[in-house]
Amino acid sequence: MTQTHITEVKTNTEHEQVLRLEDPASGLRAYLAIHSTALGPALGGIRIRTYRSDEEALSDALRLSRAMTYKTALAELRAGGGKTVILEHAGQSRAAAFEALGDAIESLGGRYFSGPDVGVTGADLAAARRRTRFVADETSPELGNIAEHTAIGIWHGMRACIEFAGLRRARVAIQGVGEVGRRLALILKNEGAELAIADVDFARASHVAEECGARVSAPDEVLFADCDVVAPCALGGVINSKTIPRLGARIVCGSANNVLGDVADANELHRRGILYAPDYLVNAGGVIRGSDFYLLGLRDSAASVSRIYDRTKRVLGLARERNCSPLRIADSQAEERWRGAQRTAVS
Ligand code: NAI
Repeated sequence: MTQTHITEVKTNTEHEQVLRLEDPASGLRAYLAIHSTALGPALGGIRIRTYRSDEEALSDALRLSRAMTYKTALAELRAGGGKTVILEHAGQSRAAAFEALGDAIESLGGRYFSGPDVGVTGADLAAARRRTRFVADETSPELGNIAEHTAIGIWHGMRACIEFAGLRRARVAIQGVGEVGRRLALILKNEGAELAIADVDFARASHVAEECGARVSAPDEVLFADCDVVAPCALGGVINSKTIPRLGARIVCGSANNVLGDVADANELHRRGILYAPDYLVNAGGVIRGSDFYLLGLRDSAASVSRIYDRTKRVLGLARERNCSPLRIADSQAEERWRGAQRTAVS
């Protein structure tokens, strides 16, 4: 057992619990934020990166854990939202730091269930799992590949958008053909879509293009390709006030988290008649699988992931009816669900 100092951080946000973790022996410095457990255990991955300051790391943990509550609520899971961010620095003993984090997660007794996020490797997770039951094992064959579930979920959301837009067959441009983007490209190929793909890793792009019979685009041009759907599957923030005027597609539907530069960009897309499938609505396939497997013990998640199709249709329909952005509808549905559960728990 490590000697991790765990301190409660007081914030003026709506988070249930925010912890600062510090273990001098391993060099672990981290923030673990539980935004809400009103609907069930808080789900959310571990991110590790170099932060400029503690404040920056804390604000990332607060923002990301809140986003997880919205994602799990909208996906109708019996789960809430949380997140851990580790400040990466020289002098940190990586395996020992993840073990110390594992102790801290275990001490929460299952209120928080974690898994991978940006920067985290299989070896990191294995180190954390040596000390806790509450970190996902991505190597478990019963769990299956999380990115595969995410890609399938994106496809369900995308076909809802395509049908909603009255298209029969779609030309799709994918930015980023990594874990999710490549799998999405393979699904789209089987569905007969015409594909353009791009990746900053050119070798990867050409390999996937060959697998899928896709055209390769330049990474900085793919968003503006002449197509029906653009699927950002790499970085966040790429749909913004600079890129929106140049978009060639009528639908934006991809896996990238926080794909909008700003929430106001959803209004601009709406004003221009471009259908935007909210990122956290359509990229929930992976977390749905995690929740099904770890919280409900389900062997198969095909049916639950496919519900992203109906949810997307509902969100787009209400947005049209109320003449507002689909993001506004998604946010209000998610808020209604988790705040409703919070009120029930309090009364
Ligand atoms: P990944 O790291 O496997 O793939 C990202 C790919 O994008 C890489 O091949 C990279 O070379 C490429 N890339 C980076 N910058 C680029 C650029 N400017 N232009 C073109 N390509 C670029 O990541 P993964 O797991 O496929 O995730 C993709 C996105 O989906 C991320 O934003 C992630 O947060 C999000 N996401 C992933 C989930 C999952 O299950 N893996 C679940 C939900 C969201």
